[in-house]
Amino acid sequence: MSASGRLLFSIDAGGCLSGRLRVPGDKSISHRAVMLGALASGITRVSGFLEGEDSLATLRAFRLMGVDIEGPDNGRLRIQGAGMHGLRAPDRPLDLGNSGTSMRLLAGLMSGQNFTVTLTGDSSLLSRPMRRITEPLTRMGACIETGSDGTAPLRIVGCERLIGIDYLLPMASAQVKSCLLLAGLYAEGETCVSEPAPTRDHTERMLGGFGYPVRRDGNRICLTGRGVLTATDLDIPADISSAAFFLVGATIAEKSDLLLEHVGINPTRNGVINILRLMGADIEVLNARDAGGEQVADLRVRSAKLRGVRIPHDQVPLAIDEFPVLFIAAACAEGETVLTGAEELRVKESDRIQVMADGLLALGVDARPTADGMIIRGGPIKGGRIRSHGDHRIAMAFAIAALRAANPIVIEDCDNVNTSFPGFVNLAAAAGLAIRDYRVG
Ligand code: S3P
Repeated sequence: MSASGRLLFSIDAGGCLSGRLRVPGDKSISHRAVMLGALASGITRVSGFLEGEDSLATLRAFRLMGVDIEGPDNGRLRIQGAGMHGLRAPDRPLDLGNSGTSMRLLAGLMSGQNFTVTLTGDSSLLSRPMRRITEPLTRMGACIETGSDGTAPLRIVGCERLIGIDYLLPMASAQVKSCLLLAGLYAEGETCVSEPAPTRDHTERMLGGFGYPVRRDGNRICLTGRGVLTATDLDIPADISSAAFFLVGATIAEKSDLLLEHVGINPTRNGVINILRLMGADIEVLNARDAGGEQVADLRVRSAKLRGVRIPHDQVPLAIDEFPVLFIAAACAEGETVLTGAEELRVKESDRIQVMADGLLALGVDARPTADGMIIRGGPIKGGRIRSHGDHRIAMAFAIAALRAANPIVIEDCDNVNTSFPGFVNLAAAAGLAIRDYRVG
């Protein structure tokens, strides 16, 4: 939070979205680009890097471990790879802010180093579950001290050696999968991770791009430790999780017609398109192409009438970060939308089931939270005041709701929008959202 007080958004009701825009780079891919570039041999040049607080936290962590990184300059980085064993002990704890991806993926990499490091973060990150990574890492031989309830700070003590394991993930989590694969780079023998449902596969793809062999057999992903990463150039697509706010906004606001450029449409991330189409959205995928091992396309979205649906279970992990704004779509749909099987939403940057239900109720929407999802009956949206609980995606989702509200919406605690979407207010305003931000307190 800034010294000059907390950031609020105020959005006038109504309006439509039009024109063409490119949202910032993919957050998940940006983290991984820095991590693998730092450990590679040679120079990795990155374009499209997300200059948001989360990925910058990863970048700063590697600088503190002695990696020479130039930039970011307009999304460009030049990373002088330190090699697999070239990291140095940092002289202070690594503060990862709000970023779960930094914490969980770095925990895997740090388990393979021969120095001791502490990973810490803000109050949200320090309350998120970490046993899901510390248990399997400990089985691999890592030495990790946690708080009594298994939360961070994590103190990772340089250990003798790691040994590969064959692990069945208890939940569909790309962070846990990636954490173990990254630890596996340092382990003796083979590390295999089986996932209960497909999750984002950027780690596996990018390891391949750095010349590291990864084998996939159905839902099981394996690699053999102690190989090398060879530097490469990376072009990071725009983040579909950021584009999602505009996909929903242009769908629910009458007379909208918007083109979103160069969006990553990796099939393990495209649940938001599939779910919105099921609800009746008009989204065209144009000019689909490959950008450095990731699929990208321009997305044209026009206003459409939505209907409530039962969200298919197989789409849940593929849209896991998009539910805050999908709930807004559901509030604008005719009939009932039912989400189940999404208990992971309760342990994101906030409890996204409860916080979204509270906000929707405050706006007069019939929203019933359940243990693992939500039932929403579409209807009129009043204006009102929303508490985002410092969760970036909650803040942006309710900003989009204003397009269909009867009165203005004010959203509290919006500083963390910068973690994933720097420039959101300006970009959204340029597309037609009547949004402004200001500080209080
Ligand atoms: C991410 C995986 C997801 C997602 C997060 C980014 C990643 O978390 O919610 O925003 O980059 O691997 P989980 O693995 O906890 O589902």
